Amino acid sequence: MSYTALLQPQIQRLPIYQPGRPIELVAQEFGLQPEAVIKLASNENPLGASPRALDAARNSLKEAWLYPENSAHFLCGDLSERLGLPEECFTIGAGSNEIFYLLASLFMGPETEAVMGEQAFVSYLISTIRAGGTPVRVPMPDYKHDLDAMRAAVTERTRLVYLPNPNNPTGTILPEAEVLAFARSLPDHVIFVYDEAYAEYQDPAPDLRPLIHEGRKVICTRTFSKIYGLAGLRIGYGYSDPELAAQLNSVRPPFNTSTLAQQAARAALADTEWVAKSRATNAAGLQQLGAGFAKLGLEAVPSAANFILVQVPQAEEAYDALQRQGVIVRPVAGYGLPQHLRVSVGTEPQNARLLQSLDAFLNR
Ligand SMILES: Cc1ncc(COP(=O)(O)O)c(C=O)c1O
Repeated sequence: MSYTALLQPQIQRLPIYQPGRPIELVAQEFGLQPEAVIKLASNENPLGASPRALDAARNSLKEAWLYPENSAHFLCGDLSERLGLPEECFTIGAGSNEIFYLLASLFMGPETEAVMGEQAFVSYLISTIRAGGTPVRVPMPDYKHDLDAMRAAVTERTRLVYLPNPNNPTGTILPEAEVLAFARSLPDHVIFVYDEAYAEYQDPAPDLRPLIHEGRKVICTRTFSKIYGLAGLRIGYGYSDPELAAQLNSVRPPFNTSTLAQQAARAALADTEWVAKSRATNAAGLQQLGAGFAKLGLEAVPSAANFILVQVPQAEEAYDALQRQGVIVRPVAGYGLPQHLRVSVGTEPQNARLLQSLDAFLNR
């Protein structure tokens, strides 16, 4: 009997997460030098991590023989100070992805549903199916979450409702007042999961903390993978009321985040200059790419994040052609967007190179 035949039925239906292709693999496949390849495929910070975070990571290596602090106590303390919430409100995950998996393991199973946008970040879909729950996918007209339709999709079986704001891969954002009203309209058996992976690119970002103070069932998730430039260290967090945080922590694998990641995250959080510089670089890059796409006659979805969804004729071919030129972007056919590519904002020269390569493809 094959392993496949022995799988839990929901695992047989599990969609596969498709990550951005790594630089080394693309270089090898197309006979390029790795230094000549640029990756604009995973919404990483093109400036890299803050030098202070890297120093902290290096310093913590001497403790590599010790297990990490299991609940990331000191990082929770820093976050508590930053966000003005008690330490007990925080759950630290190996990326915010792990928080979605923990939520699903707590609340998803047969006879339960999770509501999400059709083009919402795919991790919600995967974690829901993996845990045996049923995803309820709501159409997103104009690439935006339709909150009325999402509210109408909530049933007695709904346990989780996901809203990434801004969303990946569309880059669209909804205003704070609309999100707050939506969250307040949800019944008491539903937990609102508000994903703020790209919050630091807005200044100010929508603030959902009033919902926590009101005692509503809500969890906000954030990550150190994006503006903080620590995607490779795998660290993110959720904040919610302490009861939910305790339940999430009860199913969290022990020692899920390394000392290296915890220390780098603390230093990154404190390096507000690096965050400001990264935000400014991104704002300039969004303008550069927006203007460049318009010049090439390509329609792009206005973005509030560090990537842009752009409509490209023969997107799949364009994706291959760009790779041959050493530019890695992300195809999004898996999101039902076969005519688009998602492009992460790079540095000024990287953006210029992407635009040049696209120009060459379009005029081939
Ligand atoms: C909307 C959104 N949420 C969460 C994540 C997950 O980030 P991580 O697991 O690296 O914290 C991503 C990553 O691409 C994302 O786009």
